[in-house]
Amino acid sequence: MNPPLNPIQAVTHPDPYGYYARLVAERPVHRDETLGLWIAAGAEAVASVLGSEACRVRPPREPVPKALVGSPAGEIFRHLVRMNDGAGHCPFKRAVAAALASIDPRNAGGEAACWAVHLAKEAQPSGDLAHFAFALPAYVVGKLLGVADDRLGEVAVWTAAFVRCLSSASSAAEIAAGKLAAGRLIDLFRSSLATAPAGHALLASLAREAGRVGCDDTDVIVANGIGFLFQAYEATAGLIGNTLVLLAKQPERRAGAPDGLDAIVAEVARWDPPVQNTRRFLAHDAVVAGQAMKEGEAILVVLAAANRDPAANPAPERFDPYRAERRSFTFGLGVHACPGEKLANRIATAGVAALLARGLAPRSLAAAPRYRPSPNTRIPVFAE
Ligand code: HEM
Repeated sequence: MNPPLNPIQAVTHPDPYGYYARLVAERPVHRDETLGLWIAAGAEAVASVLGSEACRVRPPREPVPKALVGSPAGEIFRHLVRMNDGAGHCPFKRAVAAALASIDPRNAGGEAACWAVHLAKEAQPSGDLAHFAFALPAYVVGKLLGVADDRLGEVAVWTAAFVRCLSSASSAAEIAAGKLAAGRLIDLFRSSLATAPAGHALLASLAREAGRVGCDDTDVIVANGIGFLFQAYEATAGLIGNTLVLLAKQPERRAGAPDGLDAIVAEVARWDPPVQNTRRFLAHDAVVAGQAMKEGEAILVVLAAANRDPAANPAPERFDPYRAERRSFTFGLGVHACPGEKLANRIATAGVAALLARGLAPRSLAAAPRYRPSPNTRIPVFAE
C-alpha cells in the first residue's frame, strides 16, 4: 500500500500512522508548497501553534465563508465561539464551557443509553451503521438542549444539512439546503428559548451562563446552542465508527466491554482520531513553532500526528486503554480546546455498547474500511 502523499490524503488513508510517525520524526513543522500550507505535526509544534496569539481560527479577511454570508447559516457561523477569536470568543467561551460542564453526567449517560438503544433497534446488525452513528449525537445533544422527542428526527436531518453546507466541497444544492436547515434550527431554538427561558435544558443553561458573562444577545446564544449540535455531529459519529474499526481489528478487546468500553473509546480518540487536523491562519507576521510565518498564511495542525509523537505518548503506536498520562490532541488545546470531550466520549460509549448488546459482531465489520471523503474528519463507511 502506498503511503499518503500529504497530510490531507492521510485523513482518509487506510493506514496513515506510519506516515504521521515519519512526519513527527523528520519534519515536525515544515512548509508544503504543493498544498500552500505550513504543516505542524510534532507535539511541540502543534502546542506552539495552538498557543500562539498570532494564529487565528479563521482567515482574518474571511470571517464567514463567502458562500454563506448574509444567510441563516452565515449568521450561525459568525457567532460561534469556535469561529471567533478575541472579543467574539472570550468571555462567551466561558459560558459555553460552563453550560456543558453543568450537564448532569447521569442524565447525559441516561439519554445517550436510551437513544442508543432506540436507534440501534432501527439499525440492522451490520446494516445502516452510518445512520446510527450520525443520528445518535444529534438526538442526544438535541434532547439535552431541550428539543421535544418527536422533533429530534427533524433536528438530526437539519443538522446534517447544515454541517454539509459548511464544507468547502459542498455543491450549490447542498449550500441552499444547508441555509434552509439553518433557518429552521434558528426558528426552533429561538422559540424554545422564548417558551422555557428558566428551564433545566442545556439551551436555558447556556442563556443563564451567557447572562453571567454579560451577554444577553439571543442570536449569539441560539447560534452556540446550534453549535453544540454541529460540533458533536461528525466527530462523535467518527469516534463511534473508529471504535468499531478497532474492535473489528482486535475483537479480543470486546471481552473487556462494556465495563472497559469507556477506556477503549478514550484511547481510540488518541490512537485513531475522528478529527485528524484543524487549521490556523496568521493574523500578522510572526515566528511560530520556530518558523518565520507571514500574515495570511495557513497552518494545517495535524492533531492525529501529534498524538503519535513519542515525546507526548511513549510507544505511541501501542493501543493501550489504560495508558498512564495519555496526552491526546484530538480535542484541541489552549483557548479553543473542546469543551465537549466528556459528552462525546459518553455518547460514543453508549452507542457502541448498544450496538454490541443488539448483537453486532465487530468481527463481521471491515477492519480496513473506506472512509468518507473529507480533508479533516476520519469517518469509516461500513455499508452503503
Ligand atoms: C469526538 C467528538 C469531538 C471531537 C473529536 C471534538 C474536537 C474538537 C476540536 C479539535 C476542537 C478545537 C478546534 C480548534 O482548536 O481548531 C473543538 C472545539 C469545540 N468543540 Fe468539540 N469535539 C467533539 C465533540 C464535541 C461535542 C459533543 C461538543 C458539544 C456538545 C463539542 C463542542 C465544541 C465547541 C463548543 C468547540 C469550540 C471551542 C472554542 O472554539 O473555544 N465538541 N472540538
